[in-house]
Amino acid sequence: MDKFLIKGPCKIKGQVLISGSKNAALPILASTILFDKPVTIENLPRVRDIDTMLKLLKSLGSKIQFFNNKKIVKITKNKKQKIFASYSLVKTMRAGILVLGPMIAKYHKSITSLPGGCLIGARPVNYHLSALKKLGMRYEIKKGYIYAKSIGKLKGANFKFSKISVGATENSIIAACLAKGKTILRNCAIEPEIKDLTSFLKLAGANIKWIGKRTVSIIGVDSLNEIKYSVMGDRIETGTFCVAATLAKGDLIIKNFNPKIIQTELNLLKKTGAKIKTFKNEIQIKGPKKIKSINSITTKEYPNSLATDLQAQFMVLLCLANGRSTITESIFENRFMHVAELRRLGARIIIKGNKAIIEGQTEFIGAELMSSDLRASVALVLAALVSRGHSVINRIYHLDRGYEKIENKLRKIGVNIKRLS
Ligand code: EPZ
Repeated sequence: MDKFLIKGPCKIKGQVLISGSKNAALPILASTILFDKPVTIENLPRVRDIDTMLKLLKSLGSKIQFFNNKKIVKITKNKKQKIFASYSLVKTMRAGILVLGPMIAKYHKSITSLPGGCLIGARPVNYHLSALKKLGMRYEIKKGYIYAKSIGKLKGANFKFSKISVGATENSIIAACLAKGKTILRNCAIEPEIKDLTSFLKLAGANIKWIGKRTVSIIGVDSLNEIKYSVMGDRIETGTFCVAATLAKGDLIIKNFNPKIIQTELNLLKKTGAKIKTFKNEIQIKGPKKIKSINSITTKEYPNSLATDLQAQFMVLLCLANGRSTITESIFENRFMHVAELRRLGARIIIKGNKAIIEGQTEFIGAELMSSDLRASVALVLAALVSRGHSVINRIYHLDRGYEKIENKLRKIGVNIKRLS
């Protein structure tokens, strides 16, 4: 298993090019099941979750052709498409559940593995199932699989999500594209990755309109057109590098990302003292000499507050602030796994329920650490790069799920990092 060896403290200076968004590319790839014609997706991030989704599509019968060093993929469906999404693929990546909506919309049947639990929370799929049921899907759960079917086409319906869910919104929008008649989905998630998915589907001929802040209307069409689409930049990778620059008193130019999309997090970083200039598709960020603490940050759905996928990274930053800060995690019930590892570097963090109380002015000292999930792992990398001495981060396969060539990008801006195989 690969590890990272990081020798800190590191100075950060230079330019970073942001990769395509993992969480935008995954639902877009899943939605290619709706198409009869070829689909070409550009700006794909070369990360493991994308490989897994492509393997899943291949197992369902899609032909996958890569171009430009696997940054572009052309997906063409075989005549004989399968409808079985196996546990062995879906268990390694929860986004595997996103093939359910398109399969039921296109083939009116599917056997899809339940994704199972996950370290950051139980993450059930009940909202996915209830929305698809409203559109006409019938299902039963047997031996860990969702056996689903519909009598002919799905039928447009009105549905209000009882809680905002990114994946359930995506699955339902994708399914409604080929349903008969009009679907109105309320209380939808409106993460930029979902807007990227609807832009993609609209360009392919889907009749989708956002008619309220969290309300979308979809009128089903018979088929979608051949299309070439470039995935948006990765919001969480951008946020991670912005935090890196702030905590390491860095001076960074971050390219290939529209700063407007990450305004909430940039405002929080400004509060900690970061100097930020934004341009079209570029962020220039300089870390302050002294980082200021922030009281009561709560993670919330976009665009209301800090993204849960950036919570761990912000926690590392606040360990270095001039006083006490707090972060409340409101999306997932178990997303503080980085805390025990950060304590090994010297962090003083107390957890009370879903609230972390973070004492500032920590002087991190390098240690051997264990990755637990994707964002927790990158938080350890950030902490290690400002720690005195060597840190070893084990199990970095978690990082490879969602960060493209992170060690190359970090090395280029001054981080002393090595991958040990
Ligand atoms: C997406 O997960 C992202 N994954 C996550 O990114 C991200 O953390 C999350 O949205 C929140 O922003 C992808 O886009 C592939 P949810 P998703 O449905 O869709 C509960 C990363 O690090 N819930 O919005 O699974 C759920 O348990 C990953 O890149 C139900 O109870 O998130 C959670 O508490 C991690 N029943 C909350 O809702 C359901 O049917 C939000 O989950 C669905 C969700």
